[in-house]
Amino acid sequence: MSLPSYVGSMRGRDFINTNDFTQEEISEIIKAAMDLREKFRAGVPTNYLPGKTLFMLFYNRSLRTRNSFEAGMHQLGGHAHFLSPQDVYTPTLPEDMIPYQTEAISDVARVLSRYGNAIAIRIYGDAAKWFIGRGNRVILEFAKWSDVPVLNMEDDIYHPFQALADMMAIMQVAPKPRGKKFVVSYAYSGGLKPLAVPQSCVLIGTQFGMDVVLAHPPGFELEDHVIKAAKENADRYGGSFTIVNDMKEAFRDADFVYPKAWSPKRYFPPYNSKVDKDGAVEYQNKFKNWICTPELMDLTNRGKYMHCGPADRGQEVVDEVIDNSSYSLYFEQAENRLHVQKAVMSMVMG
Ligand code: CP
Repeated sequence: MSLPSYVGSMRGRDFINTNDFTQEEISEIIKAAMDLREKFRAGVPTNYLPGKTLFMLFYNRSLRTRNSFEAGMHQLGGHAHFLSPQDVYTPTLPEDMIPYQTEAISDVARVLSRYGNAIAIRIYGDAAKWFIGRGNRVILEFAKWSDVPVLNMEDDIYHPFQALADMMAIMQVAPKPRGKKFVVSYAYSGGLKPLAVPQSCVLIGTQFGMDVVLAHPPGFELEDHVIKAAKENADRYGGSFTIVNDMKEAFRDADFVYPKAWSPKRYFPPYNSKVDKDGAVEYQNKFKNWICTPELMDLTNRGKYMHCGPADRGQEVVDEVIDNSSYSLYFEQAENRLHVQKAVMSMVMG
C-alpha cells in the first residue's frame, strides 16, 4: 500500500492549540481528514500507523473524544491505550506530589515515551482544581518532557481537535469560509463548563478570515490573551472579530451559529481568590433566556447550528433546532472528530 504524502508530514509535532499552526497547515490537516473520511466511508483500508501506540490519559469523562481517538487509532492500524489517572500513580505537577499516589509528569512522560508513539491528555475543571490554566500547564509539562508528540484532548484553555472538526464541518457547507458570519454565543447551562470550546472556536474562525462575532452576557468574557490572538488573526487573515452582549443581535444574518455554555471566569482562580462554584452557578442562572430556538435561527442567513456536544437539551438549545437536519451540523461535527484526529495522528506519528 502506498502512503499518502500527508503521512509523517508533521512528524514529531505536538498538537496543543490550533493557533500554533498556520492557516495553510490547518488547511492541510482538513484536506487529509477529508481524504480519510472518503476512505472510511468507502471501506478503503488506511493502515498508516501499523504497530504504533497512542496513550490516552483522561482526567475527565468523554464520549466523542475517547471513542473517536480509540476507533481512529485502530483504523490506522495502531493501538490506543486508555489510562485513567487514578489507576496509575496520578501524573502530577511538582507542587501537588503525594508519595506513592502521584508521579511527576516529567517521569510519566519520559516512561510512556519509551513504550509508545504519542501521549494524548484531557484535563480541565475539577481535575485541574478549577484553577483556570492549570490543565493547560499539565499538558505543556507533558510536552516539555515527552520525546513523542503530545495531543491536547481538551484542557481548560483550548479544545483544538474540536475546533478542527468544527472548521471541517463549516467547510462542508462553505468550502471558502472567508467572509462568512460565524457567531460564537454563550448559551445557558446549569452545569459548570470550561472556556476551551469558545476560545478555540474564535481562534480558528478568525484564522480562516471569517467575520467572527462573540456574543455573551456581561461577565462571560473570554481570556484576554485569546481575545488578543483572535484580533491578530482577524488582521492577518482578513476577517473581523467583534463582541456583543445580545444573542438576537448576534444571530441576525449569521451563516453559522455556535450557542454553547461556558462558566464566568471571575468565580475561579486566578481571576478570583478562591473557587466559587455556587457563585458561578447562581450567576449563570440569571441567563436562562440565552437558549437557541427556531425563532432565533429564523434571524440567520439560513444559518447552520453548531455545538461540540454534549449539548444540554432544554437549556442551551431546544430539540427542534438540534434535531432539525436543515439547521444542525451537530452530528457532522461529532463525526469529523474521527477524521481530523486520524489526520493529525497520521501526520505527527507517521
Ligand atoms: N466534544 C467533546 O469533546 O465531547 P466529549 O466530551 O464527549 O469527548
